[in-house]
Amino acid sequence: MSEGRPHRSPLPNRPWRQVRRIPSSHYVDEAHLERERTEVFKRTWLVACLEWQVERPGDYAVFDELGESILVVRDDRGTVRAMHNSCRHRGSRLMEGCGRSSSIDCPYHGWSYGLDGSLQRVPREEGFEKLSINKMALKPVRCATWGGFVWVNLDPEAPPLLESLGTLPEELAPYRLEEMRPIGTRDEHIPANWKAMLENAMDFYHVPFVHGRTISRHVSEGPDLHSYGDHSRQRLAIASYGWRQRLDRACTRGGPYSETQASSLHKYLIFPNLLINVLPYHLTVMQAWPVDAQTCRLRYSFNKRKGARGIELARVYATGAASRYILKEDIDVLLRFQRGIATGRVAEQHLHDEEAAASHFHGALERWMAQPAT
Ligand code: FES
Ligand SMILES: [Fe+2]
Repeated sequence: MSEGRPHRSPLPNRPWRQVRRIPSSHYVDEAHLERERTEVFKRTWLVACLEWQVERPGDYAVFDELGESILVVRDDRGTVRAMHNSCRHRGSRLMEGCGRSSSIDCPYHGWSYGLDGSLQRVPREEGFEKLSINKMALKPVRCATWGGFVWVNLDPEAPPLLESLGTLPEELAPYRLEEMRPIGTRDEHIPANWKAMLENAMDFYHVPFVHGRTISRHVSEGPDLHSYGDHSRQRLAIASYGWRQRLDRACTRGGPYSETQASSLHKYLIFPNLLINVLPYHLTVMQAWPVDAQTCRLRYSFNKRKGARGIELARVYATGAASRYILKEDIDVLLRFQRGIATGRVAEQHLHDEEAAASHFHGALERWMAQPAT
């Protein structure tokens, strides 16, 4: 059966392809990373920022990854837009960081754009030969919102965001992800390949060894894996639900949740690089962006529900502190992984059943890499 171009079909119900062996070169080779940038990142929907960061007209946030700079802005009509952050005069970067502004002004020669990207003002315009101001808007980038995230896609032919997410929005609706707000964020370079960062967060084979003194004793059984085409979900029962159920009654909002949504942690990998751990009262968001083959930028946040107070808030802060400690355990072992793999002495890696989510992830990566962009 022909697989077709992967970005033409989210393939929500197809059986997933297991990849059990991975060439180690895929974690150190710059040429391989360049192919991942071109064939995967520049064709898939990516989270550029959080929607609350651009809550009001004029709010903007700059997304600087993959060698691109994209400006996300909410315009005067309330629409969230994305555009290349490069001036149409001579290409200078326009905005930095995030903030609020009534216009987009170039710091170089003063060209000024509206929040919709249209060119509004050119100093001493008569000095240009044949300049069509109405054709000099900032170059748009496809943009959509879902789940409290602002998504961008550099491929004009990609299917709409909701199509590529398949049934995930419906399944995740009870959690009301758009209500979540960070209580702690991390944005740092990690000396490990971007895939290793995500795989580690989905891998249960390492838990008894790396987290033997922390979460290992609360994880009673290996997670099950559900495939949504490129995306996946692992469901993980945490400890006994008996005592936690009483706490949940005091702090679980949103819903209505299914029994497993209320009682278990759900870990979603939204391809290619967004990993979210969801429970009714908190949310972990992790993104791994390639910097070079052996370095990634980790964007990590631990989130509470807007308006959380009392027991719910105390619980979120306690779990957030525990998560930061567990993340440190993971980062320490990832550095060892990357240094080991960089020696080139182990040419191939073998995945265990409890690394099934990594296996699924590589199946999706292989599909995209096998279908070069045209
Ligand atoms: S580069 Fe922006 S006004 Fe000249
Ligand atoms: Fe871990």
